[in-house]
Amino acid sequence: MMFMKSIFALAAFATAVYAQSVTIAAPVEGTSVTAGQNFTVDIARPNTLSPSQEVAVVIGLVSCSEAPFNGNCASFDVSQIFGTILYNGPYTPTLHNGPSPDFIDFYQNFTLTVPSWFTPGSASLNVAHVSLIGAGPFPDLEVKNITLNVVAA
Ligand SMILES: *[C@@H]1O[C@H](CO)[C@@H](O)[C@H](O)[C@H]1NC(C)=O
Ligand SMILES: *[C@@H]1O[C@H](CO)[C@@H](O)[C@H](O)[C@H]1NC(C)=O
Ligand SMILES: *[C@@H]1O[C@H](CO)[C@@H](O)[C@H](O)[C@H]1NC(C)=O
Repeated sequence: MMFMKSIFALAAFATAVYAQSVTIAAPVEGTSVTAGQNFTVDIARPNTLSPSQEVAVVIGLVSCSEAPFNGNCASFDVSQIFGTILYNGPYTPTLHNGPSPDFIDFYQNFTLTVPSWFTPGSASLNVAHVSLIGAGPFPDLEVKNITLNVVAA
């Protein structure tokens, strides 16, 4: 019993330290994407042994040029406005070999399309990530965002 308890304590500790936070590995901040064309969103995760189960990601693109941002995404909490949903479904990262650091080799690429009608200018790409963490487990939601530049087709 003591052994089991210490395993759980260790698991809880590992969970706190290594929460399975995702990184938007691509595109990089400031990348230009073209209305009506495809682009790749690479969502990476540390490939750790801490107990977690992946559930889903939601990827949204919201124009910074329109209300409520009116040209300034920094003036608002973009994490609360996902805009146009480009993807809503399972997140199943796998290990890929590559020259990049290990933590960025565990990922899933999503091929998404910028709507052809999307307003040119800066836009925020928002990613919501849901996973189940720990022995409980407990559901975890995190939101990441980067700024892109949408150019007219
Ligand atoms: C763009 O992405 C869609 C959806 O993944 C795919 O069906 C289509 O073939 C892609 N188009 C190009 C030009 O790659
Ligand atoms: C995933 O996307 C990244 C960024 O575009 C690219 O470097 C990588 O080669 C892609 N991986 C696969 C397996 O297509
Ligand atoms: C993400 O959104 C937050 C809150 O609006 C903002 O402070 C931050 O600058 C954004 N990050 C990027 C990379 O756009």
